[in-house]
Amino acid sequence: MPEQATSSSRPRVLSGMRPTGKLHLGNYMGALANWVKLQDQYECYFFIADLHALTTDYADTSQIASNSLEVALDFLGAGLDPERSTIFVQSQVTQHYELPLLLGMITPLGWLERVPSYKEMIDNLAHKDLTTYGFLGYPVLMASDILLYQPTFVPVGQDQQAHVELTREIARRFNTFYKLGEQEVLPEPKVLLTPSPKLPGTDGRKMSKSYGNTIQMTDPEPVVRQKLKTMVTDPARIRRTDKGEPDKCPVGDLHKVFSTPETLAKVYDGCRSAGIGCIECKSWAADALVQVLNPIQERRASFTTPQVEEILHAGNAKAAARAEQTMQEVRTAMRLTPGSFTSR
Ligand code: TRP
Ligand code: SF4
Repeated sequence: MPEQATSSSRPRVLSGMRPTGKLHLGNYMGALANWVKLQDQYECYFFIADLHALTTDYADTSQIASNSLEVALDFLGAGLDPERSTIFVQSQVTQHYELPLLLGMITPLGWLERVPSYKEMIDNLAHKDLTTYGFLGYPVLMASDILLYQPTFVPVGQDQQAHVELTREIARRFNTFYKLGEQEVLPEPKVLLTPSPKLPGTDGRKMSKSYGNTIQMTDPEPVVRQKLKTMVTDPARIRRTDKGEPDKCPVGDLHKVFSTPETLAKVYDGCRSAGIGCIECKSWAADALVQVLNPIQERRASFTTPQVEEILHAGNAKAAARAEQTMQEVRTAMRLTPGSFTSR
C-alpha cells in the first residue's frame, strides 16, 4: 500500500476564482489544470469568489448564483476532487464577511489606491460606477480570503501577484499590532506562480471572456472545430502557396500548448514549406483540443446539480471550520472575545 500523507501533514494552498460563468480554456490552462496537479502534494482549498463578483456587479446580482454553479461544474470537470480538495463558495462562509472588516481597520488607504489594477479597472469599466468603498476594498477582501486559511502558498497567475504581495503587507501589519504567543496569527503566504502558456483566442488576442474570443471548456466538438475554422492565422500567409511561420500564428501557439511533438514537427515543416494548408493545420489543432476537452466534459456531465450542491455544502462546512479556527485567534489577539474586559 502506498503511504498516504494525511492532509494536515502537507503544506496548505488556497486559491479562488471569480464566477464569470462557464470557464474557458484560458481559465483551465492558466489556473485549473495547475490546481488539479497541486492536489497530489498539498492540502487544498479552492473557492468560488462570488463576493468578489459583487465588487463590480453589485447592481445586478441575478447571474451570480447560476454562474457559481457553472464554475463549480467546471472545477469538478477539470478534475478537482472533493475527496482531496475543499471546494467552497465564499459567500456561504461567513468568516469571509468578518475578517475584511477587521483588516480594513488597519489597511492604509494609500495601499489600496496604489494597487496597479485599481485606476485601470475604473477607466476600463466606465459603464459601471466603481467609485465604491467595496471596490476600493477588494484587496482587503482578497487578503481576508487568503489569511483565513493560514496557507503556505497561494497559487495564482501573474495578474494576481500584486494582490498577494499586498496580502503579505496587511498580514505583517496585523502581526506587529496584535500578538498571541510566539507564533504569528496571520503568517505571510507566498505566491506559487502558475506557469501560464500563451493562449490566444480566436481573434489572436489573449483568450478572454471580455474579448468574446474564447473556446469554452464545455464547447462540444463541432463548436470547437467551427471556432478553429474562423481563427486568425499568420497574416503573411494569404494564399495556400505562401510559406508561413507558426511562431507568428495563433494556431501555432495552440499547437505548442496542446499538440504532440510529432504533430508540432509536422506543423513547423508543413507551414514553413507551404506543404500543408491552414485548414488541415487547424483540424489538427482542433483534434488536440477535443482530446483535452472530451474527458473534462464527460466528468462534468457525470455530476447532477444536487450532487454539486451537496459537494459545495460539505466544502462550505469544512472551510468554515478552518476559517473559524483562524478567527478565534484573530479575535483573541485583538481582544474582541467575551471576557477580554477583565483579561486586559
Ligand atoms: N482576485 C482573484 C481573481 O480575480 C480571485 C480571488 C479572490 C482569489 N480571492 C482570492 C485568488 C484569494 C486567490 C486567493 O481571479
Ligand atoms: Fe498557422 Fe498552421 Fe496556417 Fe501555419 S499552417 S499559418 S501554423 S494555421
